[in-house]
Amino acid sequence: MKEGKPSFTAEGTVAFRFAEWLAPEDERMCHDPLAKDFVATKFRIIGKSRLLTKIALWCAERLVPGMVSYIVGRTKYIDAYLKARIDDGIEQLVILGAGYDSRAYRFDELKGKAKVFEVDFPATQKVKMEKVKRIFGSLPDNVVYVPVDFDEKKLGDGLCESGYDKKLKTLFIWEGVTPYITAEAMDETLAFVAKNSGEGSSIIFDYVFKSALDGTYEREQVQRIRKLWERIGQPVTSERFCFGIEEGAIEEFLSQRGFYQVENVTAEFFESAHFKGPHETLKVWCVVYATVKPQK
Ligand SMILES: C[S@@+](CC[C@H](N)C(=O)[O-])C[C@H]1O[C@@H](n2cnc3c(N)ncnc32)[C@H](O)[C@@H]1O
Repeated sequence: MKEGKPSFTAEGTVAFRFAEWLAPEDERMCHDPLAKDFVATKFRIIGKSRLLTKIALWCAERLVPGMVSYIVGRTKYIDAYLKARIDDGIEQLVILGAGYDSRAYRFDELKGKAKVFEVDFPATQKVKMEKVKRIFGSLPDNVVYVPVDFDEKKLGDGLCESGYDKKLKTLFIWEGVTPYITAEAMDETLAFVAKNSGEGSSIIFDYVFKSALDGTYEREQVQRIRKLWERIGQPVTSERFCFGIEEGAIEEFLSQRGFYQVENVTAEFFESAHFKGPHETLKVWCVVYATVKPQK
């Protein structure tokens, strides 16, 4: 991430959720009505025309096949997981790399039950906070904004200085972020979660297969996305796909880092349970959730 520049990928992600919100209700995979308020003006203008929206989605599907379905599918999945954890009595929610995630504002069940910490790269968070003030008139009392660059390894300091309570049962959501950070930042963040959260705390995040990043994954869909990112993504953003996990190794990876009860959600699951639409699914991305191992 570049000093002073808000995230390009956060803007794109919320644009896909906005496009999904424009679809008829019974056809939507995820339901994020606040996406229309967080999305950039250029996308809101496109969204006013059904034809332009269709063309934009067609172009997105041609350029990054499977990405739109994957993003709205994972949001739906993580929303359901959050709902289950709220019912299960979480006392804090930490959203890592929050971007324009709107869960703190659209899950009324959180209010009065769980304080929300939104952690993000400072420049992205600054823009988010301005948008939140514009939408709601002020910053909500139950949300704490924690500016952190994961690569600078200051997550622990940032959270603890902001009133995060290590003893509480906490859910950490890390959606659409891990490919962009270093392996050291990944380890550092997981170590913080494993060592500094109350009994029954858990984490949900998504990750990409290492083979998709080093070019060894053969599928044409993935090669196309890699090449496109080199041509179009790299000139406009410093966000790089730099971290992946070996296919099939997630359970061991998380077990070595202080987690158990690991559930890996593959593209095949998304295909059967979530994706009923015409789009191709992204095969190299998974969602995973796990519980923090009890401290001895
Ligand atoms: C693809 S966006 C996902 C945003 C949001 N979680 C969502 O799903 O809509 C990636 C997010 O990761 C954040 N991010 C990327 N690198 C980061 C870093 N080194 N430190 C902190 N945040 C980072 C960006 O600011 C951005 O908000």
